Amino acid sequence: HSTPILSPSLLSSDFGNLQHELAALEQADLRWVHWDVMDGRFVPNITFGPPVIKKLRASSRLFFDVHLMIQQPERYINQFVDAGADLICVHAESTVHLERTVSEISRQGCQCGVALNPATPLETVSYLLPQLDMVLVMSVNPGFGGQSFIPFSRNKISALSAMIKNQGAKTLIQVDGGVSLENAGELVSLGADILVSGSAFFQFPPYAKRYRDYMQAMNG
Ligand code: DX5
Ligand code: ZN
Repeated sequence: HSTPILSPSLLSSDFGNLQHELAALEQADLRWVHWDVMDGRFVPNITFGPPVIKKLRASSRLFFDVHLMIQQPERYINQFVDAGADLICVHAESTVHLERTVSEISRQGCQCGVALNPATPLETVSYLLPQLDMVLVMSVNPGFGGQSFIPFSRNKISALSAMIKNQGAKTLIQVDGGVSLENAGELVSLGADILVSGSAFFQFPPYAKRYRDYMQAMNG
């Protein structure tokens, strides 16, 4: 198992100072940042889109982990690639031709992931694992920060980890929703490679200290 990664979700950061927030993350030695893109259709909330990401890309070297919570994400792949996304993750529930959508992300030179809502079974991605860089296990219903972790997600993470091992795939497991310092270690031991944290990260500055505490929890 490689070193686990923490991807802070900007959803809980200061939207009026995104450039400053990104710089502060980089200064605190974070490597990834998680962008929650919401369209008010797939989820009730609305956040930001490609032009905002593109502007901020120019001044950041962080790995841009882009989580699309939008209907028919296939319509916007080109724009998110052009905006500088390093990884684009689409929801299985948001696109009819999931294989075509993830192939298109890879074809455009981006890493690709599939996110699963809590109630969506793992079988949805079983045939796709060889071509996926990541599967995102949603541990809350997407749309908002600060919700509590849904307990059955633990079983889903271990079952996905077993499925990936069985197939000899290299797919990474990301967990998003209700992640905290308290459950981070357990989630990694169940098989998570990347943890997303919004409220439990940004509400506790300074970021360097928070990041160190997370890494310590994640490395057991
Ligand atoms: C939820 C988003 C998450 C969210 C997590 O729709 O996908 O990335 O920001 O927030 P916390 O960590 O507060 O549950
Ligand atoms: Zn997210």
